[in-house]
Amino acid sequence: MDFSAARDYALGLDASDPLAGFRQRFVISDPSLVYLDGNSLGRLPQAACERMQEIVKEEWGASLVRGWGQSWWETPSRLGDKLGRIIGAASGQALVCDSVSTNLYKLASAALGLRPARTKIITDTLNFPSDLYILQGIVELMGQERPLTARHAKNAKESRENHKNLGALGGLRGSKYEIIRIPSRDGGLTPDLDALAAAVDENTALVTLSHVVFKSGYLYDMAGITRLAHSKGALALWDLSHSAGAVPVALDACGADFAVGCTYKYLNGGPGASGFLYVNRAIQDEALSPVWGWWGQDKPFDFALDYAPAPGVKRFLSGSQPILSMLAIEPGLDLTLEAGMDRIRDKSIRQTGYAIRLADEILAPLGFRLGSPRDPALRGGHLSLRHADGYRINRALIEEMNVIPDFRAPDNIRLGFAPLYTSFAEIWEGFERLRRVVAEGRQAKYSRQRQIVT
Ligand SMILES: Cc1ncc(COP(=O)(O)O)c(C=O)c1O
Repeated sequence: MDFSAARDYALGLDASDPLAGFRQRFVISDPSLVYLDGNSLGRLPQAACERMQEIVKEEWGASLVRGWGQSWWETPSRLGDKLGRIIGAASGQALVCDSVSTNLYKLASAALGLRPARTKIITDTLNFPSDLYILQGIVELMGQERPLTARHAKNAKESRENHKNLGALGGLRGSKYEIIRIPSRDGGLTPDLDALAAAVDENTALVTLSHVVFKSGYLYDMAGITRLAHSKGALALWDLSHSAGAVPVALDACGADFAVGCTYKYLNGGPGASGFLYVNRAIQDEALSPVWGWWGQDKPFDFALDYAPAPGVKRFLSGSQPILSMLAIEPGLDLTLEAGMDRIRDKSIRQTGYAIRLADEILAPLGFRLGSPRDPALRGGHLSLRHADGYRINRALIEEMNVIPDFRAPDNIRLGFAPLYTSFAEIWEGFERLRRVVAEGRQAKYSRQRQIVT
């Protein structure tokens, strides 16, 4: 076995890692578990356990309803400002609230409202499906003169099925809007940037993409694509779910108009933790949320009967937020700020690079191929390893090897490397166990029938 596949080499990398100490600040209840989830859920910060006890007893238990006036009401903005320091947003532009899908609905609708004469929405086939579904729902609702009913939704489904160009052009018959999904090159690895550049034109209202794509980890050039959108008068909306806490993001510097993202992956905010949204200050006064809830009202405690939007980004709040789980996000944000995005990115590139070397040396001979870009400037914090028997290998890793990756159809074993707690030795161990599964044919006993959650 080559030097980079040896465990001592990995231990040496850990010994000189300036972020190594952060691992102890997370709950590691099973030291033999190799946690390379890619990344659907970050580990639990120790500080979140302590903080949750305090919040439940001191705030919920003792403050009761007074908690809203003491601090809870401001939690979405306060955490939004803190998160803004991680994603390059000056204060007053980001909120922690709702889910990614809901926030995307709010912001994409707002974007179309800002460009009423334009009818094209540009996205790609690499985007997270929920983002595509949300866009399809918006197009159905906003592109129609008539109200949306269950019967209408059924008709729309049929019309989609009949639509000849759905693969490349996601335009829905009967809607004034057309969704264009830029295809990928390399079998789902990277987008066709020439097709993207050619598609954006004076009729484009919105360009919306995942900054780091969920399967391959391809990293878009946010500044360049935002410039492309703006050069034709379109708006740019970024999904940062796989970027926030994994790669440096500079929303303000790139001039991005809108962004959404989640806190449960690299920000370690907990299962189902609230997402976030960003609205550039320059367009906050014209952009309108489609969800006119009381938290987004100018003076919510006047209880006026008519809606008037709050000034600034707060108009994108909807209703009451889950304060307990929101406060659990803060320790993860603090850890990320303490480590610093530059150091996190530096380690992330070294870890994905190390994993690619291991894959080349010990897994390629067993039928694996890399499903992520080799150029570090083009990839985020996770990698895809493709294998024809990927699903069953993934099952064997979980059931018998105490390794947690995740699986993304059709053949991607997705591995996440979280620089705050993933060690180089853990990566080596995970790859060695993966090699053993395939070398010993352990996957053969598992069914190809997929489980609900993969
Ligand atoms: C890139 C991306 N966008 C959107 C979502 C949907 O997020 P939510 O379930 O919080 O709406 C996810 C979920 O994993 C995601 O990875």
